[in-house]
Amino acid sequence: MAKTNNTIILVGTRPNLMKIAPLIKEMKNHKEFRISLVHTGQHYDRNMSEIFFKELEIPEPDHHLGIGSGHHGEQVGNIMIRFEEMVLNESPHLLIVVGDVNSTLAGAIVAAKLHIKIAHIEAGLRSFNWNMPEEQNRVLTDRLADLLFIHSPDARTNLLNEGIDGKKIYDVGNIMIDSLIGFHQKAHRNSRIMGKMGLSPNCYCLLTLHRPSNVDVKANLQKLLNIFSEIQQRIPIVYPIHPRTKKNIEKYHLNDYLNKLDNFIITEPVGYLDFLVLMENAKFVMTDSGGIQEETTYLKVPCLTLRDETERPITNEIGTNMIVGSNKQLILDSVDSILKGDWKQSRIPDLWDGKTSERIVEILLNEMSKG
Ligand code: UD1
Ligand code: UDP
Repeated sequence: MAKTNNTIILVGTRPNLMKIAPLIKEMKNHKEFRISLVHTGQHYDRNMSEIFFKELEIPEPDHHLGIGSGHHGEQVGNIMIRFEEMVLNESPHLLIVVGDVNSTLAGAIVAAKLHIKIAHIEAGLRSFNWNMPEEQNRVLTDRLADLLFIHSPDARTNLLNEGIDGKKIYDVGNIMIDSLIGFHQKAHRNSRIMGKMGLSPNCYCLLTLHRPSNVDVKANLQKLLNIFSEIQQRIPIVYPIHPRTKKNIEKYHLNDYLNKLDNFIITEPVGYLDFLVLMENAKFVMTDSGGIQEETTYLKVPCLTLRDETERPITNEIGTNMIVGSNKQLILDSVDSILKGDWKQSRIPDLWDGKTSERIVEILLNEMSKG
């Protein structure tokens, strides 16, 4: 790589933003990097995108591709077309992508074809469920990447099993936890969400739900809502609703059903600072999100993952997470245990310590010095 490194950082969705905020902050301390931030526009609602730029102090994107929603092929294809145009103008040395969303894969394909180095943060995670769009994005992005930054030992094993050269893999820890640690104080200072929603610590369950397998098929969504209906009789459920799920609840005419549940409290998606406070004060969390399995492990809040598998097994093995799928009995029994205060001992994985962005930047500088 050259002495001054033109680096593009590509984002598109909500969970990308808490992964790049600490990285940009750290890279800005080093004059060797010239950063260009590109937003594909995959997520575009104010509370799915813009709010995180403000709260996480991320600079305005240098380029906005304005892609929006669409079928997978349409979305990936449109990002590739517009991103390639932009890359050809900028001639970057390095592309940094994070996570496993369509924007991640689209960016990586463009860069690989133009022989631009690719760094993938959060590499190596595998659910081994090929029907998950994210699993396809993970495997393909990792195959294209030159530098693979991982945050748990299972990721290294997965990559080596796929024939990835071990010299490309770096244990750097979990960059989302950099954001969590970095913005924890600010969240406590600024968030008014508990008062606004009339919530007391430890007296509610926080829910997020957006995986296509849970919310796109009416029977699956209805099954989960029936389970939530029982749980909310024991403890209120707070649900900042994802736009995909909101759309499906309308499509399947489930609003009337939900309106009858007195303790099922639906809100719009909330900003990062409010969400952090909601997570930290929850008695437990139910989710199908990737990132939230990790954040609850760090915060030591019990987490029930409403999926049949996880690409983040470390949260299940040593963290507070338990994989419960949509198994009603298992979910209700787990809720019972949590409400009785009977949950497993947990610990925080190694290198989830707030210093991941420092480690990544050191590796990037080292790569540059090799020329
Ligand atoms: C995407 C990612 C998923 C990630 C999630 C984080 C892919 C394949 N999926 O899923 O891995 O966990 O983001 O939240 O990349 N919509 C809005 N406003 C928005 C964004 C979306 O209304 O700002 C609605 C649209 O109807 C859209 C639907 O949500 O069709 C789904 O959005 P999309 O980005 O395709 O997938 P997500 O479910 O958000
Ligand atoms: N999050 C948030 N507001 C919400 C829901 C989630 O700030 O209303 C944060 C959460 O703390 C985590 C990230 O968004 O940092 C996870 O995003 P999401 O669940 O959409 O994506 P995934 O991790 O499943 O890809």
